[in-house]
Amino acid sequence: MSTAYLNGEYLPLSEAKISPLDRGFLFGDGIYEVIPYYSGKSVGLIPHIQRMINGLAEIEINCDKTLEQWITLLDDLIAKNDGATQNLGVYVHVSRGTDVIRNHAYPENVTPTIFCFTFGIKDPEPIDRTQATTYTVTTTEDLRWKRCHIKSTALLGNVMHYQQGHASGNNECLLYNSNNELTEGSSVNAFIVKDGVVITPIQDNQILPGITRRIIIDSIKAEGSIKIEERTVTMDEVHSADEVWISSSSKEIAPIVAIDGVNVGNGKIGPVWEKAFAIYTAAKFNHS
Ligand code: PDD
Repeated sequence: MSTAYLNGEYLPLSEAKISPLDRGFLFGDGIYEVIPYYSGKSVGLIPHIQRMINGLAEIEINCDKTLEQWITLLDDLIAKNDGATQNLGVYVHVSRGTDVIRNHAYPENVTPTIFCFTFGIKDPEPIDRTQATTYTVTTTEDLRWKRCHIKSTALLGNVMHYQQGHASGNNECLLYNSNNELTEGSSVNAFIVKDGVVITPIQDNQILPGITRRIIIDSIKAEGSIKIEERTVTMDEVHSADEVWISSSSKEIAPIVAIDGVNVGNGKIGPVWEKAFAIYTAAKFNHS
């Protein structure tokens, strides 16, 4: 049984309980993070925590933990869950807290609810395009809200889009806005490759500022052998791309080989994925 953290206490996950009047439960009123640890080594720990602190400030949840206190809490939780000998994701959740009534207005003087637990994650994929796992996606218009840069626990919009891909036997669903421009996937950021150039949509309110996306961009730029651009990507470009990838803390860089049942390129993982994944793998632990 894994050990969880709830409001200052470490306890077995099955014993963690909150009130049904918690605003996270009633309204999805909270912020969350998912942070990967491989054999006890985190990827992007500080940017993940910083993104959460930014999100909490943006929705005016007053959580007084500092960056250093978060690092200590999460490192303790990893240690209590034998993180040195396995790969773990840490889920971190801060809701506005438990009120005495259900009222949309932000209540005053409630203490935020802090809940964290760990779960097993897969080994990284081999850096070999003949052996790595392939992914397929569907596409649909992005019908979520206009604040996708906030990592809100209110995920119904994302869940409904994810389910569309999942129900038809696919791994994800790529989303486009009303201008037919790629935004991201329901739980991932997205990249295309055309003529050797990697292109990803700009970071604005239409996408989550993914930490994996950031590490990919920064490490590719630092290494210097692959050109990478952040710009608007049309769905026509997605459908005619040589390669398409999705990224997240749990999937790292995942190659898409079919979109809506149609092959991407020749339907196999491309050479730029292999090179980019090698660059990312060499750099990922430096980003903590
Ligand atoms: N999903 N876009 C969305 C909508 C996401 O939910 C996620 C992460 C990402 C990738 O962000 P990052 O690289 O920081 O993980 C992009 C997490 C893993 C989840 O909801 O479980």
